[in-house]
Amino acid sequence: MSGITGAALVAGIVGRPVTHSLSPVLHNAWIAAAGLNAAYVPFAPTAGGFPALAEGLRGGVIRGVNVTIPFKEDALACADEASERATLAGAANLLLFRDDGAIFADNTDGLGMLAALAIQAPGFDPTAGPAVILGAGGAARGAAAALQLAGAPDIRIVNRTLDRAFALAADVGGAVRAVDQNGALDSANVIINATSLGLNGGPGPEADLAAAPATAVVMDMVYKSLRTEFIVRAQARGLRTVDGLEMLIRQAIPSFEAFFGIAPPADVDVRALALKTIGETA
Ligand code: ATR
Repeated sequence: MSGITGAALVAGIVGRPVTHSLSPVLHNAWIAAAGLNAAYVPFAPTAGGFPALAEGLRGGVIRGVNVTIPFKEDALACADEASERATLAGAANLLLFRDDGAIFADNTDGLGMLAALAIQAPGFDPTAGPAVILGAGGAARGAAAALQLAGAPDIRIVNRTLDRAFALAADVGGAVRAVDQNGALDSANVIINATSLGLNGGPGPEADLAAAPATAVVMDMVYKSLRTEFIVRAQARGLRTVDGLEMLIRQAIPSFEAFFGIAPPADVDVRALALKTIGETA
């Protein structure tokens, strides 16, 4: 960031905690490679501090922010205008601060998820069969909304707390329904871990992958490691797998474009950079 002047464009990430976010690593690598006079910085407001932060940034003080746990619902709530996908997900991971004072909310998590599936499971077609989402929190909502908009014919939500699965299904509507574990993986096209299980390096969700068809693709949104217990189990079963790091990178690309008006330079290996940061080899 040595080339920063008073004319620099600023964007950032808001989360709590935000210390371990990989987003500054990705965006600042792209900024440097593109030779932009810009910076991407972390913000960690207090638990109830998100609305004040967003209000203070109105009027284009900075270009925009990505938003992560636990503020994605707050981000949507503070916006004057929101994309269809953010509204459907009930959450935003991207806020843009317009010069006229308006705040625009978007959600690129779903795009990131679908792009990661297309890249790591070539030929994957979301319309080809049932999608199973494990979890019913914010991450699961984003996935359900994206799969709904992509035309998945049946979107099954499996969650420890069944009431939350019902609430998600009611909110997103369409092909989304709450189911219990029994038979949930039958004829599944894709199975997605959107729970926080595996985040601490421990076991992933309980789903019995033996019940999934051999053609099913398994995705883990947890990106702390490429070899989460869930991914390892899926690979042992011979299933194709997609990792959360690719999803993180793919949601960052449209965010960067929205902040800085250009596509990130394609010749930067941000995946290798991120892997180095989390202490993994490819
Ligand atoms: P996020 O916004 O990242 O989705 P969240 O809203 O806290 O975070 O949701 C976490 C998800 O992981 C939920 O689906 C949660 O299940 P509950 O709704 O029953 O709480 C799931 N989860 C977390 N710990 C779990 C555990 N030990 N066993 C099963 N599910 C778990």
